Amino acid sequence: MSSLQAIRDAILQSPDNISLLLLYSRACLEQLQLDDARESFERVLELDPHQTDAHLGIARVLFLQGETSGAAVRAERVLQQEPENAPAHLLLSRVYLSEGDRPKAIEHFDRAALIDGTMSDPALERELGRSARDVRRTSPAPIIPESGANEGPEDGDQAQDIFDDPFDDPPYDWRPETFYTPGDPNRFGTTFADVGGMEELKEEIRLKIIYPLQFPDLYKAYGKRTGGGILIYGPPGCGKTLMLRAVAGEVPCNFLSVGLHEIFDPYFGSTERNLHQIFETARTNSPCVLVFDDIDSLAQDRRNVRESQLRNLVNQFLHEMDGMRGENQRVLVIGATNQPWSLDPAFRRPGRFDQAIFIPPPDAAARAQIITLLAKDKPISNLDVEALVEATAGFSGADLKWVFDRAAEMTLSAAIHSGQPVPIAMDLLISVARSHAPSTHSWFEGAHEQAQQTTPDAYTTEVRKFLNAPSQREP
Ligand SMILES: Nc1ncnc2c1ncn2[C@@H]1O[C@H](COP(=O)(O)OP(=O)(O)O)[C@@H](O)[C@H]1O
Ligand SMILES: [Mg+2]
Repeated sequence: MSSLQAIRDAILQSPDNISLLLLYSRACLEQLQLDDARESFERVLELDPHQTDAHLGIARVLFLQGETSGAAVRAERVLQQEPENAPAHLLLSRVYLSEGDRPKAIEHFDRAALIDGTMSDPALERELGRSARDVRRTSPAPIIPESGANEGPEDGDQAQDIFDDPFDDPPYDWRPETFYTPGDPNRFGTTFADVGGMEELKEEIRLKIIYPLQFPDLYKAYGKRTGGGILIYGPPGCGKTLMLRAVAGEVPCNFLSVGLHEIFDPYFGSTERNLHQIFETARTNSPCVLVFDDIDSLAQDRRNVRESQLRNLVNQFLHEMDGMRGENQRVLVIGATNQPWSLDPAFRRPGRFDQAIFIPPPDAAARAQIITLLAKDKPISNLDVEALVEATAGFSGADLKWVFDRAAEMTLSAAIHSGQPVPIAMDLLISVARSHAPSTHSWFEGAHEQAQQTTPDAYTTEVRKFLNAPSQREP
């Protein structure tokens, strides 16, 4: 099964990627590899105990193993968390049907059909003698969100001319899970103000997509185009993923974020076709920002890839990036990775990811910002930002967050045992920080090794520059 193999390869690259693990679990489930499916769902729950999809997945496994009551208990629990979870209703419908309770089976089936306007389950529909379409037809019409198509017609036409569609089939009905139109209230939760440091990157994003939309005439006058490609890379925990989320809150245009699992989802078609569809969606909704987190799984160096399917995917990706070059494309593609050296060098050619920005561990000024952000809304006695900045040289943002979480946990535990609420003491924060070794060290070791194995590339040069800069070295 080459699609399962492709997902497995992707998981090797990103072992803690919950979406990929879920995708893999579901694929196993589909092929009735129940033990593998269950194991992989359990792994998701280890990473995040609140993943309802994984709870539901285990419920499905149980159902298929004939443990209907176990399945029902889990599905009910999911519904307690999310009463509008259509798949949970669907599963319960099956459970009740298998137990001979038709009215209840129908009740849950109808709920699922109304919640999810695209739901269909031919087998169950046949057994129940009713169709999801009919259920919906006889109920009030749901509100379907508008797509962000507020562009003049000529834009779309030109895009078509510049980029020929290599796939004959008409575009299938696909929407990335994260697609924000400019006014979408969900997108404003995180903005640049929530990200400490990274001034260069923030300005680069403004230059490539925010200012061009604010000052179109100026951009035209200077012959500068909108959009392009930015690759951000660096040690884990330094805010790359956070930054991608903040871009959504900052840019005044459509925003698309693509999870690896959406590309590797065999449900829709080949991975190349999925990728093409994603770019197509970005183009037809331009101006637009398109982000790929953990891009290394998609853009691997073809020389190291043995599987032809994955190699085709990389070729497709390169081809799509080239399709962004036209004057009227107005799409900014941002990719993030911890392992820039594992990307195919072809991605760095002009017109693709020609801008690569290194995100180092935060310097003193950025740490002060992050510490201030983390301390907000927390009861801390006599917060001394300076002292903490000094005690946390080399720490990533995630390390800093850990220090605050750990200190809060210890204070909470003391408060519970003494029955006295007390603020988090500054001394405690400092001692927790002192006891923690920055998690970025091993990444720099890896980068160093990388630099010795291969001819120096732009990435390793940049990393070395950072390590050698006296201003960056902190006591
Ligand atoms: N520059 C930063 N500003 C504010 N918080 C940060 C920063 N860097 C890291 N963090 C904190 O650490 C967490 C993990 O960072 P993340 O964005 O997942 O890192 P990466 O994607 O680079 O591995 C974030 O959710 C945030 O709480
Ligand atoms: Mg990340």
